[in-house]
Amino acid sequence: MTIALRHLYSGKVRDMYDAGDDRLLLVTSDRLSAFDVVMAETVPDKGRVLTAMSSFWFHHLGVESHLISTDLADFPEGAQDPDLAGRSMLVHKAEMLTIECVVRGYITGSAWKEYTESGTMHGTPMPTGLLKSSKLPEPVFTPATKAADGEHDINISYAEAEELIGTDLAAQARTISLDLYNRGAALAAERGIIIADTKFELGLVDGELVVADEVLTADSSRYWPADQWEPGSTPPSFDKQPVRDFLETLDWDKTPPPPTLPASVLADTRERYVAGYERITGRDFSDWPGVGLAG
Ligand SMILES: Nc1ncnc2c1ncn2[C@@H]1O[C@H](COP(=O)(O)OP(=O)(O)OP(=O)(O)O)[C@@H](O)[C@H]1O
Ligand SMILES: [Mg+2]
Repeated sequence: MTIALRHLYSGKVRDMYDAGDDRLLLVTSDRLSAFDVVMAETVPDKGRVLTAMSSFWFHHLGVESHLISTDLADFPEGAQDPDLAGRSMLVHKAEMLTIECVVRGYITGSAWKEYTESGTMHGTPMPTGLLKSSKLPEPVFTPATKAADGEHDINISYAEAEELIGTDLAAQARTISLDLYNRGAALAAERGIIIADTKFELGLVDGELVVADEVLTADSSRYWPADQWEPGSTPPSFDKQPVRDFLETLDWDKTPPPPTLPASVLADTRERYVAGYERITGRDFSDWPGVGLAG
């Protein structure tokens, strides 16, 4: 893949380039992270599935977002390699909020851990008797700090989020996040998928708060098959479950370097990502730009 734009930053999954005029090109790689460690192998097409998924949600939810275009023809001159098609988004550069806007509809992961220890979720007392993976009485905005490289995000209370970004932005972020989660989860439910929780990243473009980064993808959310949800246990995740299951069979301490993933695990994972996309959107993944090209 050749790209003649200035490279600005690479996260665990995305590579960011300067596209001029306060715009960025966000290129989603096929890298896979599990337990916050980037695996050595890649999952073919994963970057395209995630981009297709975000693009679907941005349009379906009709939200103010950073997205300008996913069409190669709209990209700057230095970014015309066909391999960029389908995995890249031209976006408005945003001044990112310093919090992660998490919404939880079900209690699992770090929230479940906190609840078992103190009966609270992000510091707020919760009803007694919740089970692992229980549906919450209503979805809750549960922000987290944005961790620096190599660290884990830290769950914070709403009051702490207000201290970090101010009461006005915190209130706006909460309203936007809950609205997106509610509408996205409703659509997913119709297709037999539970979005247990999700993380939005919001930022300011020309003084307006917009949704940036990726939206309601399998990487930023926990997708559960609705027919396998049973409070008291953790449903299989729609996407990374083959990887997690494989890693759990090893005696690996979940710090780099990661173990080698077998080809079968990578192929299963690809199938899951594609299946999740097709089930939610009702679209055929093979219709998405660039699918079938080497990644
Ligand atoms: N419109 C935008 N303007 C500026 N930065 C953005 C914009 N959209 C997304 N970003 C940032 O781009 C980066 C995307 O890279 P990536 O998703 O790989 O990040 P990461 O933070 O390492 O991973 P994770 O999502 O697991 O936290 C993030 O830091 C995100 O906050
Ligand atoms: Mg990210």
